[in-house]
Amino acid sequence: MLRNTRSGYGGVAIVFHWTMALLILGMLALGLYMHDLPLDQPSTFALFQLHKSIGFVVLALAVFRLLWRFVNPSPRLPDGMHPLERAGAHLGHIGLYALLFALPLTGWFMVSASPWGIPTVLFNTLPVPHLPVPAALGSQEQAESFFKLLHEYGAYLLMALIAVHAAAAFKHHLVARDDTLKRMVSTRPAKAGS
Ligand code: HEM
Ligand code: HEM
Repeated sequence: MLRNTRSGYGGVAIVFHWTMALLILGMLALGLYMHDLPLDQPSTFALFQLHKSIGFVVLALAVFRLLWRFVNPSPRLPDGMHPLERAGAHLGHIGLYALLFALPLTGWFMVSASPWGIPTVLFNTLPVPHLPVPAALGSQEQAESFFKLLHEYGAYLLMALIAVHAAAAFKHHLVARDDTLKRMVSTRPAKAGS
């Protein structure tokens, strides 16, 4: 079953979720690793290009994932959840979706603003143009630092949200013992028509 129903996720949403979860965790780790590397090494340059390339894959997947979400029903949260918990789950998902766009976009603006003007060539094949950077942000250095700060703190916020999100999923599975985690792993809970 490819589409979501009101009782569970379909195959497309599940593949999107876990593919993007892996890519995001890898990108967070790679970003942190890049932080202290010497900038004059060719291997550092290659890792930055890889980070940028995968970041654009995440951005493209985020667009298709959100479109898919809009044309599919969203599975209902389990009965008996406290209204605050429901609100937390919805806000958490909105925050995760927002950061799936914000991280690649702030990265793209950061490299576009950089006075170094280093081109972005996806997987050494597809050149990506730089974005126009608003003049109100000041000099190129100032604009680059601004987007770098947004990118860095956005990444920390994303790490915190993922930690809470994954902890909530395991709490549902181990304490409440409901289908929340199972339905993001298998399409079986997504009964047709329900
Ligand atoms: C899923 C998307 C992305 C994630 C999760 C992510 C995450 C990160 C993290 C955690 C860092 C290290 C921050 C620090 O400690 O300073 C970082 C650095 C960086 N990211 Fe990203 N990033 C993403 C996409 C992108 C994209 C699309 C670009 C550019 C087109 C980009 C360009 C950079 C650059 C240039 C740095 C190094 C900044 C510096 O220290 O000079 N990132 N990223
Ligand atoms: C070990 C890591 C993770 C676990 C165990 C996990 C588990 C889950 C589960 C069980 C759901 C379904 C919630 C429901 O039915 O209401 C879900 C939804 C979601 N997860 Fe994760 N997740 C993990 C990592 C991530 C990561 C890294 C991201 C992206 C940054 C992410 C983004 C989302 C989003 C946006 C949704 C909402 C999907 C929708 O309803 O459209 N998750 N996750």
